[in-house]
Amino acid sequence: MKIPREVVEEIIRRNDIEQVIGSYVTLKPAGSNMVGLCPFHSENSPSFTVFGSDDHFYCFGCGAGGDVITFTMKMENVDYPTALEMLARRAGIEIPQTAESAYGDRGVKRERVLKMNEAAARFFRHCLTKEPCGEEARQYFKKRGITDGTSKQFYLGYAPNDFGKLTNYLKSLGFTEEEMIVGFLCGKSQKTGRAYDYFRNRVIFPIVDTSRNIVAFGGRVMDDSKPKYLNSSDTPAFKKSKNLFALNYAKGFCADQIILCEGYMDVIALHQAGFPNAVATLGTAITEEHARIISRYTKKVIISYDSDEAGQKAANKAMLLLGRVGVEVRVLKMEGAKDPDEFIKKKGANAFKALLSESRTGFEYKLEAVLSKHDISQVEEKRRAAEEISAVIANYHSTVERELYSKRAGEALGISADAIGADAERLRKKKIREISIEQTREAHATLHQYSNKVNPDAAKNLRAAYAEEALLGLMMIYPEYREDIERGRVELSESDFFTAFGKRAFTAIMELHSSGGFVYAMLGESFNPDEMSALQDMQVRRRSLTENGPEIFRSTADILKAEAQKQSAEESGGLSLEEKLALKRKKLEEARKKRGEN
Ligand code: UTP
Ligand code: MN
Repeated sequence: MKIPREVVEEIIRRNDIEQVIGSYVTLKPAGSNMVGLCPFHSENSPSFTVFGSDDHFYCFGCGAGGDVITFTMKMENVDYPTALEMLARRAGIEIPQTAESAYGDRGVKRERVLKMNEAAARFFRHCLTKEPCGEEARQYFKKRGITDGTSKQFYLGYAPNDFGKLTNYLKSLGFTEEEMIVGFLCGKSQKTGRAYDYFRNRVIFPIVDTSRNIVAFGGRVMDDSKPKYLNSSDTPAFKKSKNLFALNYAKGFCADQIILCEGYMDVIALHQAGFPNAVATLGTAITEEHARIISRYTKKVIISYDSDEAGQKAANKAMLLLGRVGVEVRVLKMEGAKDPDEFIKKKGANAFKALLSESRTGFEYKLEAVLSKHDISQVEEKRRAAEEISAVIANYHSTVERELYSKRAGEALGISADAIGADAERLRKKKIREISIEQTREAHATLHQYSNKVNPDAAKNLRAAYAEEALLGLMMIYPEYREDIERGRVELSESDFFTAFGKRAFTAIMELHSSGGFVYAMLGESFNPDEMSALQDMQVRRRSLTENGPEIFRSTADILKAEAQKQSAEESGGLSLEEKLALKRKKLEEARKKRGEN
């Protein structure tokens, strides 16, 4: 049975990968990810990693990887449809009997969720503005300095302290319990199976997308109880890794710059103070998707996160992701207030405006961090500071940037720019060497793991096989590359691929792309779990290649074509088997030398 894409996506959405894997493996947080001991090979220190932010897992020890479906297949040793069924049951989703009816149902569902959200938003708004039960919330917003105009603009609301008011209201409008649960307006009691209001006694922030649909809600307590905020999880109408709070307003004011904040209240305070270009991510750290969306709207982002340690750490991640998509990034230095909301309250809008113009470039910010750590009047400390800042400079890809920053760092430290520049250059070369050795090692390791099972042809031409992997990985991650191929802007076809596995993967990816959109999980229909791991692996390795992505994509396509030509020339060239082997050995040797291996 063919299970429609929408249902597969729904199953993935409703089965939180951390929770599913967490029920088999003990996971511990490590940075923004979770790690544990790999269930697929024996190990003593955890290299099995769950990337909750984009729903996949990967083991750096054995290379097993994939999404929640692949995990279930491997863990339960079941096929693709069975894994889907198990996960659907777990999340209380029915797999429709025919693909067609499912399409219809799902088509309606997003619409239904949006309609329902609209009704709910009106209900919350009414409770805030008209009902006696909204008094505390009215006082709360007042206390926080939110004007009636702002409240109206953001359509703020209040969810009453009641288990059934909203549920009953939505029922009276004809919405089903199922719809409310899917739309995250209701929870379902484990014991009685009854639906109840999800948001209770909270002030409500509706989240509106750029087409003015109300796609989700955030709700804040009015005291110090926990959790401070509840947010809608992903629904058919909302994916938190893709939506930004207030982008619907900011999009008209952000050609010059966007102010990126952490919280709802920061954004609202900024809009009220005359900064309509402020947005925030929603109860989640910034994702690659967010970064890509932001890059469509603006050229420059000013990160305006909380001044505490967590906020500064998050700022580093945001800098990295935004830098990769080619946006100019600056960081606000806020003193005497924990966040923009508080800053504006204490010091006013003009002071904030001054902060904006003083915001430092990512480099300036990092330089300051280094300087504040060391007392550079001491020679030894100064040397350390120079070392650290050279390492920072080494990470910039543009020569111009490296030169400028070396100069700036030299001034700050009282060392010649040339010395710093030379150190940075040395570190940079070393790093490139390390990366290329690492990549070769990885390529060999992957080949070793999968060559027999998944891609036996790969060993015949490592260079071509590696190019194939890179192309397939990029194609899976970025729709624009698939689009380039589809439209013939990049000439690449099945016949350019060298291995049987590569050919199959290329065709499957492009078929999905042209029939409604590529979804990795859908490959599970035609590839077994080991193959799925190999395909996942290709993506994981390509994630860091966003910078110069298009260039790499095109040149890798060229490498593949060139290899294909060489291959066929050799094959028709009448070489004896011995000659061919000798040639291959020589090539391998050369390649190894080039990569700097001995
Ligand atoms: P903050 O704790 O900084 O809250 O969380 P805030 O927005 O400044 O709110 P106030 O000023 O205390 O009222 C920043 C953001 O992190 C998410 C929310 O999106 C919040 O706006 N968050 C925070 C949650 O999703 N859940 C929480 O429990 C806490
Ligand atoms: Mn705050």
